[in-house]
Amino acid sequence: MGRHSVQNLTVNRLCNKQVITAVNGSFPGPTIRVREGDTLIVHVYNKSPYNLTIHWHGVFQKLSGWADGPNMITQCPIRPGSKYTYKFRVIEQEGTLWWHAHVSFLRATVYGALIIRPREGHSYPFPKPYREVPILLGEWWNANVVDVQSQALATGAVPNLSNAFTINGRPGDLYPICSRNQIYKLKVEQGKTYLLRIINAALNNQLFYKIANHKLTVVALDASYTTPYVTDMVVAAPGQTIDVLLTADQPVGSYYMAARPYASAAGAPFDNTTTRGILVYDGAPSSATPLMPVLPAFNDTPTAHKFYSNIIGLVNGPHWVPVPLKVDYNMFVTIGLALDVCPANTTCQGPLATKFSASMNNESFVLPIKLSMLQAFFSKVGGVYTTDFPAYPPVQFDYTNASINNNLPLLFAPKGTKVTKLKFNTTVELVFQNTAIIGIENHPMHLHGYNFHVLAQGFGNYNPAVDRKKFNFINPQIRNTIAVPVGGWAVIRFQANNPGVWIMHCHLDVHLPWGLATVFVVENGPTPTTTLPPPPADLPQC
Ligand code: C2O
Repeated sequence: MGRHSVQNLTVNRLCNKQVITAVNGSFPGPTIRVREGDTLIVHVYNKSPYNLTIHWHGVFQKLSGWADGPNMITQCPIRPGSKYTYKFRVIEQEGTLWWHAHVSFLRATVYGALIIRPREGHSYPFPKPYREVPILLGEWWNANVVDVQSQALATGAVPNLSNAFTINGRPGDLYPICSRNQIYKLKVEQGKTYLLRIINAALNNQLFYKIANHKLTVVALDASYTTPYVTDMVVAAPGQTIDVLLTADQPVGSYYMAARPYASAAGAPFDNTTTRGILVYDGAPSSATPLMPVLPAFNDTPTAHKFYSNIIGLVNGPHWVPVPLKVDYNMFVTIGLALDVCPANTTCQGPLATKFSASMNNESFVLPIKLSMLQAFFSKVGGVYTTDFPAYPPVQFDYTNASINNNLPLLFAPKGTKVTKLKFNTTVELVFQNTAIIGIENHPMHLHGYNFHVLAQGFGNYNPAVDRKKFNFINPQIRNTIAVPVGGWAVIRFQANNPGVWIMHCHLDVHLPWGLATVFVVENGPTPTTTLPPPPADLPQC
């Protein structure tokens, strides 16, 4: 149970005072700790000047789709001055998830950790750590983030770059001198083991993270246990989480931890700065200069890909789910940028004086205005969405060849609110194929309502004849967000055993309003326990 009041907060960052939207007067917002099996009730009071919704990123929301939170998908926004109570059970998953605003760019400041520990009497599938520490990686603008987004959407340009990255809300000492004391410090005792719960809450950047001289042992990804994986750095796409064990096994001293982008988008500008914090051993002399880790170069795709693809699931660990072997529905989904025509009498600043847009299968997704999609589904109201989302057969052309792609009619994607309707319990196999329309990027694709198995991933065009042989049916990663390799593809499987309306979208925050999204409408099952209950009485109305 908790009360969350969302309101203006004045904070000082990078030597500037900035009014931000924040929860309970803290930035980042409060950490919520539950045990698997608990019911979480959060009263959200919107005292901010903006429309608001809160999403519980990665929570299955079994039969509680009304609490999922994406604006106009499962609810209308909570208007300024109103409240809504999110109530749901957290079940069959453990590890690190997070919560964030799911409307406009507000999640830049409205976010926090959601930590799910084993139920009473149950333990981790690894030695109990001495302490647990959330590490939230974020992105900071010296500006009102809602304005940053509105301006980008109005002009058609990419949004202004962020001014800093942050660790637990603090940029660290590589930014202006006057803000050098805004640095996150983690105190440790020599010989003890800590569980770091790392969350990439940045809006538009994947991030490498590393601690000087220390190894990290990955034990979970996206709140799914993995076979322990020892590494000296991790990389996470926006939306993803990584649980790592850190043993303070080095000489007593101070060590920097640091994060900087993995910027796979060839040539696109990005915030090329580094945030850092300090790991301080008990008894370390305060005078010593901490050691700095050497982070991978911003374009080090081999290092990023190795991390993304080499970790395997923990077969038969807590909440392990075997890969469903029988597929009911195959989808091939292209993901990429596109263009939108510039309205008359406007000067647009996107490529060729148009506006940036994005698409899945050449459809640019548009949110409905009058009624949320889940309300339309529940009350059988027509005209809110159409059920004709196309799933293309694979390989029509060379998707990752920019010189060909830029001449295709696909450049301008039609707009619509198209969904895929699935019968309850349908097993979906989905191939994501990046395209090189406008630019070639690594899109972090996030599915609401479900985890999925990552069967395989690679570069170039997906070729079923060859690539199906690489599928891992034994111990694949289970995730809620997959960073589809830059100019490449990934194959996932999930079982649609949760009725409701579930958005799947790129977690680069600017790509969502550009239309890089689609929706699954999953029908009710045959029994009351497989049927979505009616909405709570306080569900916000449009
Ligand atoms: Cu973390 Cu739809 O979002």
